[in-house]
Amino acid sequence: MSSIPKHITELQTPAVLIESSRLERNLRRMQEAISARRRRLRPHAKTHKSPDVAKMQLARGAVGICCAKLGEAEVFADAGVADIRLPYPLHPVNADRVLALAERVALSFIVDDGAIAQAWSDIACRAGRRLDVLIKVDVGFHRCGIDPQAPDAADVVRTIAGLAGLRFKGLLSHAGHAYGVHTDAEAEAIAADEAQTLVDLASRSGVACEEISVGATPTARFSVHQEGITELRPGNYAYYDRTQVALGAAGWEDCALTVLARVVSRPARDRLIFDSGSKTLTNDGARGRGNTAGHGAVLEHIQGSRPVDSLLVERLSEEHATVRDLTGSSPLAIGDLVRLVPNHSCVVSNMVDAVWLVDGERVLERLPVAARGRIT
Ligand SMILES: Cc1ncc(COP(=O)(O)O)c(C=O)c1O
Repeated sequence: MSSIPKHITELQTPAVLIESSRLERNLRRMQEAISARRRRLRPHAKTHKSPDVAKMQLARGAVGICCAKLGEAEVFADAGVADIRLPYPLHPVNADRVLALAERVALSFIVDDGAIAQAWSDIACRAGRRLDVLIKVDVGFHRCGIDPQAPDAADVVRTIAGLAGLRFKGLLSHAGHAYGVHTDAEAEAIAADEAQTLVDLASRSGVACEEISVGATPTARFSVHQEGITELRPGNYAYYDRTQVALGAAGWEDCALTVLARVVSRPARDRLIFDSGSKTLTNDGARGRGNTAGHGAVLEHIQGSRPVDSLLVERLSEEHATVRDLTGSSPLAIGDLVRLVPNHSCVVSNMVDAVWLVDGERVLERLPVAARGRIT
């Protein structure tokens, strides 16, 4: 087995770095904020896709994790994670995998459709067991979930909760529309409305809800104060990114994930090429307020936290980042290393087999991103 490089200058680039002290602090702060309000934290593992990081979260008090896909959940189950929730609308075509996984871990998933819920109930009855489900509620993101304002919403909850093969756990939502806010007040209003919507629907249905589960990093700091919430499922908070900074959910000094890249060409005074193209940084844009142009923020130096506003990551090809030097005065030369905060850290994790846990410029450990690429 090849030995681990000791210094980041020895790493092949591009490489994804995780600043150990920032990761530790992010995990601790979120856990403390949620535990202090006597809520449960169940982080979404989509951000790190790493059993090592999941174990750090569990060791600090998380009650379990979330995954989107069964393939991800299977990886975490293999690694010994015992309680996994899939806030993703699983189709019964996956019955065999769901039943097999439910034999190994405490598994729960969402439903948002009466016929699909009935199908899962039938599958469970035939298998002689019950499956744990939550009903997904659309609180404004308009992705999946039942419409809480629909005249039959409470009936849908009662019907699904009464199905023989299901063990109804409660209601769950994801306020993804909070990524579109421009002020903290807007994010807070979304968090308050989300909680109220779920609590109201639970009360109208008359069905006991063990869980009222919400989760998104931009609203987490407000959701934690809402009455009736039992569980929060933020994911991005482990690493944060340029979008969370622009949304006011984090500072630059909280961004644990950075991309280490190298200047491979400087064809003009105002143009540099880094070796971190869309296969590393991805084409996700940054949302939020302030300067969010381009494909990531270039930090002032490889140990720094502050971005250099005069360097704009203007265009990505698969293997090239075309960077405009707006002042034409950057001292960067071919061969130099740069560190970037990506727009969206979750999608960057998914691009690499392993990330490097670092302390500044010192490499501590190689963390396999074991659940990357599990799209089924
Ligand atoms: C259903 C669900 N829950 C929780 C999360 C975590 O949210 P965030 O990435 O804002 O932390 C996500 C993220 O996409 C999600 O889709």
